[in-house]
Formats: sequence, C-alpha cells, structure tokens
Amino acid sequence: MSKRVALVTGGMGGLGTAICKALAQSGHTVVANCLPGFPPQHEWLARHRAEGFAFHIAEGDVADFDACAGMVEKIESETGPVDVLVNNAGITRDGAFRKMDRAQWDAVLATNLDSVFNVTRQVLDGMAERGWGRVINISSVNGVKGQFGQANYAAAKAGILGFTRSIAQEVAKKGVTVNAIAPGYVATEMVMAIKQEVRDSIIATIPAGRMGTPEEIGGLCAYLASDMAGYMTGATLNINGGLHMY
Ligand code: CAA
Ligand code: NAP
Repeated sequence: MSKRVALVTGGMGGLGTAICKALAQSGHTVVANCLPGFPPQHEWLARHRAEGFAFHIAEGDVADFDACAGMVEKIESETGPVDVLVNNAGITRDGAFRKMDRAQWDAVLATNLDSVFNVTRQVLDGMAERGWGRVINISSVNGVKGQFGQANYAAAKAGILGFTRSIAQEVAKKGVTVNAIAPGYVATEMVMAIKQEVRDSIIATIPAGRMGTPEEIGGLCAYLASDMAGYMTGATLNINGGLHMY
C-alpha cells in the first residue's frame, strides 16, 4: 500500500512540527502547510531534512477559502489525495473582553475557526469517496472551559467542537473519522507570549505541575490517524495535565 498523505496546517509551528514528525514516524507522507512567502531554503526544512524527515510544503493562508482550494488542488496533483487532515493552524489575540476590538475578534475567528471549514471542505468528499479518512481538529482546553482574556479564542475553539461532532455524524458510515484534541498549555511560542507572571500562575494550577510537550500532542495525533482509531469519532480528547477534568 502506498503511504497515506497527511496535511498539517500551521505545520511549522510548535505543535505542528511535532505532529508532522509523529505522522512521518508512523509512516505517512507529510505535507506541512504554512503562510505564503516561504523561502525554499528555509531553516525549518533544512533542519528536518538533516534529521531524515522529507516533509513537503504547501503554502496557503488557511483563513482564505480560495487559497485553501488552490493549495489542496496542488497537493493532490503533486503528492496525492489527502487521507489525513490535521487542522492545527491558530493564533491568539488575547485581551479582556471590555478591551477587545473587532479586529482581534475577526482575526481569531477567521484563522482558528473559518480555517477548519476552509480546509476540511476541500478534502472531506474525497475521503468519503475513497472510503477512508481522518480529520483531526486542534481545539484547546480553553475552548472547553473558557478563559479570562480569550473570549475570541475560546469561542473559536468551542466552535471547532460543534463542527467536529456534526461532521463526524455525516461521514461516519464512509470510513472517515472526525475528532478534536483539546490540549492544555504546551510550551510553544503561543504560550511563551503570555506574560511570565501570568503564565506561572496558570502553571501553578495544573495538577501535573508542568506544561505539556508538543510530542505528547503529536503522539495522540498519530494514534487518531491510525487504523486502530477507526471506531473513535466525534470525540474530544482532553490532554491537559489535569487542568480541566470532566
Ligand atoms: N481571572 C480573574 N481576574 C483576572 C484574571 C484572571 N485570570 N487575569 C486578570 N484578572 C484581573 C486582574 O486582577 C485585574 O483586576 P483589577 O482591575 O481589579 O485590578 C484585571 O483583571 C486586569 O485586567 P486587564 O484587562 O488590565 O488585564 P491585563 O491587560 O493585564 O491582562 C490578559 C489581560 C492579557 C488577558 C492576561 O490576563 C493574560 O494574558 N491572561 C492569560 C490568557 C491566556 O491564558 N492565554 C492563553 C494563550 S496560549 C493559548 O491560548 C494556548 C491554549 O489553547 C492553552
Ligand atoms: P505556534 O507555534 O504559534 O504555531 C501556529 C502555526 O500556525 C504557526 O506555524 C503559524 O505560522 C501558523 N499559522 C498562523 N496563521 C496561519 C494562517 N492564516 N495560515 C496558515 N498558517 C497559519 O502555536 P502552537 O502552540 O503550535 O499552536 C498550534 C495549534 O494548537 C493552534 O491551533 C493553537 O490554538 C492550538 N493549541 C495550542 C496550545 C498550546 O499550549 N501551545 C494549547 C491548545 C491548543 P507563522 O508562525 O508563520 O505565523
């Protein structure tokens, strides 16, 4: 059997890189999406080639539906149909709601929620027609529980959960699973942008006493992408060191 093709949006970020590696290590051909303007001799590609990862690159702004259509068309003609999609790209524009402006709301909803429609819409029919597929949506503990300063982000990440459960029902009989991962705090650029004293006060509330590692999220993605996970669909997998249990 030829290798399955996995597309990871925001594939060069903190979690994205670990997800790309975990999927490559579990036998996938991995395409890392990034924003347009990516230089061909980028340090990320060179570093991972040196480590033995032959990642493909797909440029495209996931907030732009037409860009996503063009990007997936190109992946399909150059690499093959997308069997596994990880909707991972995301941003924060934190601020207490009374100070939050429309631009902060729009940017987060477009990049974190519209993107999930924009990319999934390009690949889901093909997965269903071929009778196998995996869609893995990266939500957040803060989409599940809410968070001071994240009305925009929590709304987008909670929206992903409703999307996941709905689409999962639509394609369950077609061999396609759709699940969400809700990570807690993982030490990537996104989290390191929180002021240190605020970050420390959050970490102090995590029962595990530490942040998660990108590899822990990558491992869960690899499981969800596997044949072993064929009976799991519409689920939200919480991986948060006990920060929120329910
Ligand atoms: N709960 C209750 N009150 C809080 C609070 C909290 N968590 N944080 C701040 N406050 C209070 C302050 O005590 C202060 O009260 P007073 O006015 O009575 O003194 C008031 O709110 C300060 O409000 P400001 O708007 O001035 O707050 P700020 O501008 O200093 O900071 C913030 C606001 C930027 C949102 C800051 O609280 C923050 O960074 N919070 C963390 C948000 C967060 O967790 N982001 C996660 C980013 S990473 C990520 O998103 C990944 C993932 O999925 C986990
Ligand atoms: P990160 O390191 O900042 O990575 C985010 C990636 O998304 C970056 O590569 C970024 O590219 C890319 N991206 C942003 N906007 C994009 C767009 N419009 N089109 C294409 N790519 C875009 O953050 P991360 O921590 O790895 O986050 C990855 C995902 O996990 C996000 O959805 C985040 O909300 C979620 N998450 C993270 C945590 C955590 O604790 N870190 C917890 C829960 C959920 P540029 O760098 O070029 O902008």
